[in-house]
Amino acid sequence: MTKRVTKAVFPVAGLGTRFLPATKSVPKEIMTLVDKPLIQYAIDEARAAGIEEFIFVTARGKSALEDYFDHAPELESRLEEDGKHKLLETLKSTYMPSGAIAYIRQHQALGLGHAVWCARHLIGDEPFAVILPDDVIAAEKPCLQQMVEAHRETGGCMVAAMEVPNERTKSYGVLDVEPGHGDAMKVRGMVEKPEPADAPSNLAVIGRYILSPEVMRHLDSGEKGAGGEIQLTDAIAKEIAGPRGVHGYRFSGERYDCGSKAGFLQATVAFGLAREELRDEFGQYLQEMVAVRNAAQ
Ligand code: G1P
Repeated sequence: MTKRVTKAVFPVAGLGTRFLPATKSVPKEIMTLVDKPLIQYAIDEARAAGIEEFIFVTARGKSALEDYFDHAPELESRLEEDGKHKLLETLKSTYMPSGAIAYIRQHQALGLGHAVWCARHLIGDEPFAVILPDDVIAAEKPCLQQMVEAHRETGGCMVAAMEVPNERTKSYGVLDVEPGHGDAMKVRGMVEKPEPADAPSNLAVIGRYILSPEVMRHLDSGEKGAGGEIQLTDAIAKEIAGPRGVHGYRFSGERYDCGSKAGFLQATVAFGLAREELRDEFGQYLQEMVAVRNAAQ
């Protein structure tokens, strides 16, 4: 029987230079889609999947992220006094049980594999999830929950997977999978950021993982891969030969690359339109914008 997945690692040490100057003082994970920070989307998804322990791998300049998860007693009593119950509920939905969150510092930016490895003592000998908050996934059933359910059958390691345009393979970990049907595809090879000509397919790894603790042992070697960084992909690839192997999971849902400006803006539009209270006004504005743009062309 596969052990229940109750721990998740959130690598949030990146500098977010693509979003300068905003990220000069605001960690990119605090940047908001409509009114919710990216990190809250990641936490909500993890909670829905049954995660109980949340491990953040942070770095210097990320203290706003720690504050975000603190209780806000002054704000709370003000909202209570003013009878703003709905907002109070929203505020409380961000609260986490005491002891559920841990912060670990990554002292040097040595790569995603290294960031995850920093959490090894907190993970111990259990399967664990990894969520990259830059990848925001809108789905009826949250992506990690879909994966946890599939992982009960497969065990081993599982990565979220999605087809990307061929010319984009060098931005992703790319999978070589055995032919077959079904959402959980058996992986027979995986490579980090290949040039399109060298890519085994256009099936990319998206930032949701369920990993066996052996992956941490593989990361112990500190071996460097693509871009001179310690790559998570390389450590997972070593499990392909393991007893339960690695599966790529074709999730249902829409993924937004909020690590890029265009992706972030697309997510803002999609999440804005998904809000009932904004749909009409925002939707109408967008239609007008498009009409003006078309007329000008
Ligand atoms: C990381 C992983 C890569 C994965 C991607 C998904 O890359 O190394 O394998 O495909 O996330 O977003 P990064 O985007 O950090 O360069």
